[in-house]
Amino acid sequence: MDSPTASVFSLPELRDIFPGCTSYEELYNFSINETDVFWGTLARLRLRWSRNFERVSDCDMETGLFRWFIGGQLNVSVNCVDRHKEKDANKVALIWEKDEPGQEERVTYGELYTMMNQIANVLKSHGVLKGDRVAIYMPACPLAVASMLACARIGAVHSVVFAGFSAEALASRIIDAEAKVVITADQGVRGGKLIELKKTVVTAVANCPSVTAILVAKRTGNPVVSSQLDVDLDEAMIKESGECEPAVLDSEDLLFMLYTSGSTGNPKGVAHSQAGYLLYASLTHKLVFDCNEGDIFGCVADIGWITGHSYVVYGPLANGVTTLLFESTPTYPDPGRYWETVQRLKVNQFYTAPTAIRLLIKHGDEHVEKYDLSSLRTLGSVGEPINVEAWDWYNKVVGKEKCVVVDTWWQTETGGICISPRPSAPGSEIRPGMPMRPMYGISPAILSEKGEELHNNDVTGALCLKKPWPGMARTIYGAHGRFLETYYRPFRGLYFTGDGAIRHSDGYYQITGRMDDVINVSGHRLGTAEVENALGQHPSVAESAVVGYPHDIKGEGIYAYVILKDGFVADTKTESELKGIVRQKIAAYALPDVIQICTGLPKTRSGKIMRRILRKVAADQTEDLGDISTLADPSVVEDLIAHHRTLI
Ligand code: WTA
Repeated sequence: MDSPTASVFSLPELRDIFPGCTSYEELYNFSINETDVFWGTLARLRLRWSRNFERVSDCDMETGLFRWFIGGQLNVSVNCVDRHKEKDANKVALIWEKDEPGQEERVTYGELYTMMNQIANVLKSHGVLKGDRVAIYMPACPLAVASMLACARIGAVHSVVFAGFSAEALASRIIDAEAKVVITADQGVRGGKLIELKKTVVTAVANCPSVTAILVAKRTGNPVVSSQLDVDLDEAMIKESGECEPAVLDSEDLLFMLYTSGSTGNPKGVAHSQAGYLLYASLTHKLVFDCNEGDIFGCVADIGWITGHSYVVYGPLANGVTTLLFESTPTYPDPGRYWETVQRLKVNQFYTAPTAIRLLIKHGDEHVEKYDLSSLRTLGSVGEPINVEAWDWYNKVVGKEKCVVVDTWWQTETGGICISPRPSAPGSEIRPGMPMRPMYGISPAILSEKGEELHNNDVTGALCLKKPWPGMARTIYGAHGRFLETYYRPFRGLYFTGDGAIRHSDGYYQITGRMDDVINVSGHRLGTAEVENALGQHPSVAESAVVGYPHDIKGEGIYAYVILKDGFVADTKTESELKGIVRQKIAAYALPDVIQICTGLPKTRSGKIMRRILRKVAADQTEDLGDISTLADPSVVEDLIAHHRTLI
């Protein structure tokens, strides 16, 4: 056991660098009161700079201008690869847990260095310059990670698009970013099924004039649709040198953008910059998960989401540990897949979403109990609120009550974990079902509907963050106005998260869910407006309204109310056609679980849809509809209830 002082921070170096602080609380207060000293000290110690920064921060929550480590220059790929390769080129950086169990491949820091540099040189040979955007449409695999790092090497901005998105969704993201190159694979393999990545890219790129090359990696080697822009990535890499001089980048140059859903309009390209993001991702990775030298870190998120960016790629690699790239699903070839992987690879920290936990609970404990999970020390959860039942199962059945279970709250926009039970003194209380404590430098506030900060405990309201932190998003790509509107205008001078939260009597935070028209389906964000726009493109649809409802496994399911145009009658094909259009415009995860064809929607006299009522009807909670007297036609509600569809 550590001595009490030695265990205070779980990061021994913090003890030495902030000697005035002898407890978690003291260090937390220091991080809030002496923000620049705190982050400046850590940035100097944890990152390799080619030029030191002159000023730690210059942030303005009114105008939404955020700069960290001003005047500093560095290269993220050097921090994630070169410095670890120099120490030990044979250390394993990546373990690619392929879809086929037992076929894992290991990539050392030395090998990753060569792959990354070769791809960087391929990108350069196709004219990609600093600041250019590169779209990556690949599942988790070493070439995807090497591609992200290759962009970082030359200062290109990557935009990873989740490989489950449709051609249209991919095209809209490529167009918005004006990406010059797309990197993909011939096919993906997931749960034993083939995914036509290349075909999707070719369809998408037909409408994307900015794209000058498609770099295609080989995953299955099966023949796939070709295009004139094709470049065989594996062949092109062999021709290139494994050395590429790293670009010297300013702290605030953009590192990547990642599209995420909001309540209105198209998904927005949330943009992160170099130094602040890397520092925040790596520090949170180390402190929240207690991940140290020699550990094998297993985050099973796809690289197409922020969790994959921060805790599959940048955090673990900046910290020089071994990170898992999980290509499969929780139930392939059977529901013991995660635990068989943990046993075989001796994973020390495991990070997944509540939806996967709930799914596995249904399959029974025997799939967990078969395996030796004694390597595990930390179990993490992310993406949606974790219900107490799922938390208990994770803790008892997976963790044998010996692991630290961390529910981690954060967002694409926050860059890294902001609320979680750790870091805090080892042994300090962890409550099921809530992320509890703010990370260093994070100051949460709960705001009332009137926009007043609620200072007491035992309060519920809108979750805001009061102080800037290095990992925060810098803008929405090409739409700074929208960035301000969405995050900094609802509560002036504060960052509004879009989530509601409770601060309990003991000061611990619990997240209640989104307050806007974003739903959270299996831990994935989806704007209800996006689904409505897709449905609206079917020739028979006059109007639609989409809401979330509580779903046993997915957290939230998607319930669509659809009004058909005059002359159209719903028949057996209607539902599958409507689902088809959502799949075509967005992705399979956006398919409505329930479609109710109806004759009217509950609207106020001014024509605004009262979604509150739609949510209640969808959730089958019609005994308490609240005041419906302001509706233009209250009888609509009876009709909706009468035709309410049973939930799946
Ligand atoms: C939700 C994922 C409750 C929340 C990292 C947030 C959570 C949105 C939690 C961000 C959690 C994430 N408890 N809710 N531990 N973690 N969320 O951008 O609504 O894909 O705003 O980032 O997921 O989703 P995003």
